[in-house]
Amino acid sequence: MTTKDDRLEFEARKREMSLALGNDEDAFQQSLNTLLTLDKYDYAYLWSWMGVPIIQMPADVIATQEVIWNTKPDVIIETGVARGGSMIFMASLLKVIGKGKVIGVDIDIRAHNRDTVEKHPLSPLITLIEGPSTTAETLAKVKAEIPAGASVMVVLDSDHSRDHVLDELRCYGPLVTEGQYIVVADTLLGYGKDTALTPNRRSKIWHPGDEPYTALNMYLEETDRFETDEALNGKLVLSSSPGGYLKCVGK
Ligand SMILES: C[S@@+](CC[C@H](N)C(=O)[O-])C[C@H]1O[C@@H](n2cnc3c(N)ncnc32)[C@H](O)[C@@H]1O
Repeated sequence: MTTKDDRLEFEARKREMSLALGNDEDAFQQSLNTLLTLDKYDYAYLWSWMGVPIIQMPADVIATQEVIWNTKPDVIIETGVARGGSMIFMASLLKVIGKGKVIGVDIDIRAHNRDTVEKHPLSPLITLIEGPSTTAETLAKVKAEIPAGASVMVVLDSDHSRDHVLDELRCYGPLVTEGQYIVVADTLLGYGKDTALTPNRRSKIWHPGDEPYTALNMYLEETDRFETDEALNGKLVLSSSPGGYLKCVGK
């Protein structure tokens, strides 16, 4: 039996529905309420990737996978590595793609977390750099790890205060190459209408105004190199980072 090739149609429908979902304020509010309930159970902390704890919402793991598969970066820089699961996740995709490496930056790489990463089968694809993400010294170490001409993606998931994220955007944004993404994690913190609605099962609490989404919007006022991927962000309900996936459109 011959069946019609509907792949293009299928993708077009996905895009249409994602954009429509992005405009559904009621669905987003319901998602936010659900996330606040889940936060009581440390929901983002319940997962692992190939045996290593990954502090992410499942929706963000899928979204990041879509970005990496579609753009196939040579280098992925992640600030804020914690236990390493997100680096392992991204390295596993690069392994299948057949090229690329992950550079992880954290102010505090604990011995047991380093041990987990260094003993993992994907460790040859990973470089760990310990230090505050925005100092000149750390940035120089990161830049030294980027081969000439490499395509570069960045994930910012360290200190979520507005000023730190804005600093990181100014430091790491210019490293992202055309066609690649910068992902600003935990933008969700900017969507709570008051502090009572802010997810608070964290070592630190950030309130609307002092969080990554405000920093991202300030950065977008400064640069025209990035634009929001509306279709990807539209479907980001039950995500920590709605609006946080930006595509580099400039040289
Ligand atoms: C939310 S966790 C990262 C989670 C990780 N990306 C994952 O998906 O599993 C935040 C991490 O940022 C690190 N951090 C906090 N402030 C930092 C800074 N100024 N520079 C670099 N890392 C920082 C913390 O030590 C912590 O490990």
